[in-house]
Amino acid sequence: MISSSTPTCDSLVIGAGAAGLMCSARLGQNGRSVVLLDHADKIGEKIRISGGGRCNFTNLNTTAHHFLSGNPHFCKSALSRYTPKDFVKLVSSYGIAYHEKAQGQLFCDDSATQIIDMLLSECAKADVKIHRSTQIHSVEKNPESGLFLCKTSRGDFLARTLVIATGGLSIPKIGATSFGYSIAKQFGLPVIDSRPALVPFTFDDALLKITQDLSGISIPDAAVQCGKVRFDDAVLFTHRGVSGPAILQISSYWSAGESIRINLCPSLDLLEHLKKMRSSSPKKQLRTILETALPERLAHAFAGLSGHDEQVANLSDAKLKHVADLIQNWTIIPSGTEGYRTAEVTAGGVDTRALSSKSMESNDVAGLYFIGEVVDVTGHLGGYNFQWAWSSAVCCADHIASQVSLAA
Ligand code: FDA
Repeated sequence: MISSSTPTCDSLVIGAGAAGLMCSARLGQNGRSVVLLDHADKIGEKIRISGGGRCNFTNLNTTAHHFLSGNPHFCKSALSRYTPKDFVKLVSSYGIAYHEKAQGQLFCDDSATQIIDMLLSECAKADVKIHRSTQIHSVEKNPESGLFLCKTSRGDFLARTLVIATGGLSIPKIGATSFGYSIAKQFGLPVIDSRPALVPFTFDDALLKITQDLSGISIPDAAVQCGKVRFDDAVLFTHRGVSGPAILQISSYWSAGESIRINLCPSLDLLEHLKKMRSSSPKKQLRTILETALPERLAHAFAGLSGHDEQVANLSDAKLKHVADLIQNWTIIPSGTEGYRTAEVTAGGVDTRALSSKSMESNDVAGLYFIGEVVDVTGHLGGYNFQWAWSSAVCCADHIASQVSLAA
């Protein structure tokens, strides 16, 4: 039963993260009445912990190529409607200082909380009603009125449009849930199986035996490949396996059981280098020669692993090639990943075939929208995931705002 006192709004937005806050503010600024609900006490937590506390809030070079999705074209429309420059304009209007790191990545100079404060201020200006610590019990759509009824721990809400912005499964400790996927399934939308992405790899015991002494070593310029996909960036050895930007990037393309290939010194023709060193320093041991190309502990580990750790004068061309291959084409099968506990994002999600790329609205359920990470659009490392959150949020808000308001 819907009581006459049930609060009614134009839009109910569930999930006050990056996408939900942006969408709510934009809707409110377009004159819509908006209620924003989140089950967490602290909202925007992922923004707060992002980019090492400085939030890599966009990437100036954003293109569709920086995203994984069942439909690689899906993200194009939203990304072109609200671009990195549009978000930078907003950030600048708040006087938030930022800097560019490598490859177009923009970070706050001071703190990620400036981005949260900016979004909250945008919501306040737009009179968005935010309710934290609110458990969502159920959502249904009345087939006659077309209104959505949401039952919560704060009572019932009625809305003409419902926006789901509850993100993926990454970092359950700060409030990630499968809520968005459940709502999609409830309304008959297909959901692509989710998996942790931008996540460190773990090794089995045999591999850990080889790498256990390498924990903490970072190779700033490595190349990592999985199938045909390759990323050139840093690799970090951890006590559980490997991490670092190149590994996080490739993890989004990896499936269990697949091998990955790591080139630990891609800028060098290692075989030629070893041959030269054999001529100039024939009495030196392999491990000492490898120290000229790799960090010391790594050089020693790979000399041992090659089985040729002796005076280089004794090593044939074939043996040197074996050493070079081992280091430049190190092929391993990770036992798994660190999972949602540390994954920066969740790949998979609401199938884009069920949504309009121009509005984020369900093709079959009028008034139901999905935005941000809950959708099967997953960005590379480097500010692309936030840009997707902002772009999909604005695209959705502008579409809703173009419809007739309840108040009208
Ligand atoms: P987001 O996860 O931000 O928000 C979802 C909201 O829904 C949360 O407030 C949650 O509490 C709420 N919610 C969930 N279930 C609910 C339920 N059942 N009921 C009510 N509310 C519910 N990206 C990037 O571009 N640059 C970066 O620097 C980083 N850095 C980074 C670091 C770390 C450690 C992580 C984990 C992630 C990043 N990311 C990133 C990724 C980025 O944070 C992420 O893609 C966006 O926050 C996604 O925004 P959404 O709004 O879609 O979900």
